[in-house]
Amino acid sequence: MRTILPNELSHRDRHQLLLSGVSPRPIAFVTSVDLEGNVNLSPFSFYNAYASNPPIVAIGPAIAAKSGRAKHTWLNILATGECTISAVSYSMVHSMNLTAAEYPHEVDEYGKAGFTKRPSVQVIPPSVAESPYSLECRLMENIELRRDIGGNGNLMLLEVVAFHVADSVMIDGRVDPRGLDLVGRMGHAYYTRTQDLFEAVQPPHLPIGIDGLPDLIRTSTVLTGNELAQLAYVPGLPMHDGSFPQFDQSFRADSLDIELSCGRPEGALYVWLQNGDREDKTTLHRIAQMFIGQNKIDEAWQTLLLE
Ligand SMILES: Cc1cc2nc3c(=O)[nH]c(=O)nc-3n(C[C@H](O)[C@H](O)[C@H](O)COP(=O)(O)O)c2cc1C
Repeated sequence: MRTILPNELSHRDRHQLLLSGVSPRPIAFVTSVDLEGNVNLSPFSFYNAYASNPPIVAIGPAIAAKSGRAKHTWLNILATGECTISAVSYSMVHSMNLTAAEYPHEVDEYGKAGFTKRPSVQVIPPSVAESPYSLECRLMENIELRRDIGGNGNLMLLEVVAFHVADSVMIDGRVDPRGLDLVGRMGHAYYTRTQDLFEAVQPPHLPIGIDGLPDLIRTSTVLTGNELAQLAYVPGLPMHDGSFPQFDQSFRADSLDIELSCGRPEGALYVWLQNGDREDKTTLHRIAQMFIGQNKIDEAWQTLLLE
């Protein structure tokens, strides 16, 4: 493990090191308008949400380290107090990238990238019609971060005054993350696409935690940290259920290897019980692991309790 102090790095290397690990970051596709009405569209991945009552987001338009140039976005929002932020879907990513080029102040990047303007209801700047999710924002506070050293960042706190969500990404009153298909910015030129989704629901009770697991489970050589944590979500140690497992008369299973390699924990358990090798705890843990992988936590616990 390396330990690196910020002052040991050049500005460029420090920037990349920071952004490689603070990652993936959402991208704010910011539309702002200057006092003459020139429209600007630029991406910012120094971006996140910080509060929901009232809804507050923040972006970080930096001062260019070499030239000292301030971002047009920053100057426009300082001058007018308004902007919109559009989320960036995968289908928009290369067009979005075009807008990050340093076009002269008066150039409208909507034209450069081929995006369409959607009129706003609370602020002057429009938003990107191709985006399934956008926010209208008013500047709450601008914080200049160490202006004295140059090449510094700025933190613009923005209050959300209107949300726009495409009907096509709403399912049962909730925003469907698959429909949004958002991208995240990572280190260097890497991006990630949010298609590999999973849920990690927080239990409504106090979990027993890893240190509450029985030693035989906690010290398993098979179960990973994530798998142990899924077992540790329970509010108390489960009791062994004498009726587990139940197989009806027509139940058939192949060999242990086949059942395990085909992802059939019930079949593997059936064979394990038939073979009667009660000392084979490793297989029992592999079966429990498979149940966890299928989100059958009760079955995983009952399998482990057969020990
Ligand atoms: C995905 C992406 C994220 C970016 N994030 C930031 C950022 O957070 N802060 C920043 O100062 N520049 C960021 N940039 C660079 C600006 O978008 C770029 O400097 C742009 O030309 C600024 O435009 P403006 O001067 O018209 O506001 C990013 C570029 C890309 C492609």
